[in-house]
Amino acid sequence: MIQTWIAERDPKHLLEVGMAYGISSLFICDAIQDWNGVVYDIVDPYQQRDWSGCGIHHLRQAGFQDRFTFHEQPSEICLPQLLAQGRQLDFALIDGYHTFDHALLDFFYINRMLKVGGIVLFDDIPMPSIQKLLAYIANYPGYKPLPLPTVYENHRTIRIRRMMKSPVLRVGGFIKTAVDNRAWDWYCEF
Ligand SMILES: C[S@@+](CC[C@H](N)C(=O)[O-])C[C@H]1O[C@@H](n2cnc3c(N)ncnc32)[C@H](O)[C@@H]1O
Repeated sequence: MIQTWIAERDPKHLLEVGMAYGISSLFICDAIQDWNGVVYDIVDPYQQRDWSGCGIHHLRQAGFQDRFTFHEQPSEICLPQLLAQGRQLDFALIDGYHTFDHALLDFFYINRMLKVGGIVLFDDIPMPSIQKLLAYIANYPGYKPLPLPTVYENHRTIRIRRMMKSPVLRVGGFIKTAVDNRAWDWYCEF
């Protein structure tokens, strides 16, 4: 699914928060492997401490060692630094620390760097904290929910999940449709 969204949009600057085993990173590297001039930043403070470096090991084994820049830092430290460096993004995947406030903080900085037309994805969207966050962002005037890629519309799993009224996907997000110019006192009940 992530690869389809990437292929549809052709992003040049990608960012992922939360690497762990590097499963999503492998799919992202695979999607961008033949593209020149693509920058892909991955942020995870605990890649060595908690994951024994296996995410990076997997990417190297797959031959993607030159496809990404790894930041062994908490996202709350790294993202403001990238923003201060003037980084702009076309694609971001938020899959780090899943509390409401932490994922919101990740989104706050990503929103500041995301170009109009860019997409932001969240993993584990059935989690209450992420559900609440998506409900909040859905009210932003400059964001629209990212539609399911058309090729998946009639996919058997998707149809069954719809029938069962279960969440259709574990990953989902938004496309940025306009510059975020909400006034200082903007608020929308969510
Ligand atoms: C659900 S896992 C990510 C799974 C990964 N995307 C994959 O497909 O294998 C969550 C990750 O967030 C990382 N994490 C925890 N706190 C973080 C923080 N403050 N900033 C960035 N990443 C964090 C954890 O170390 C863990 O690797």
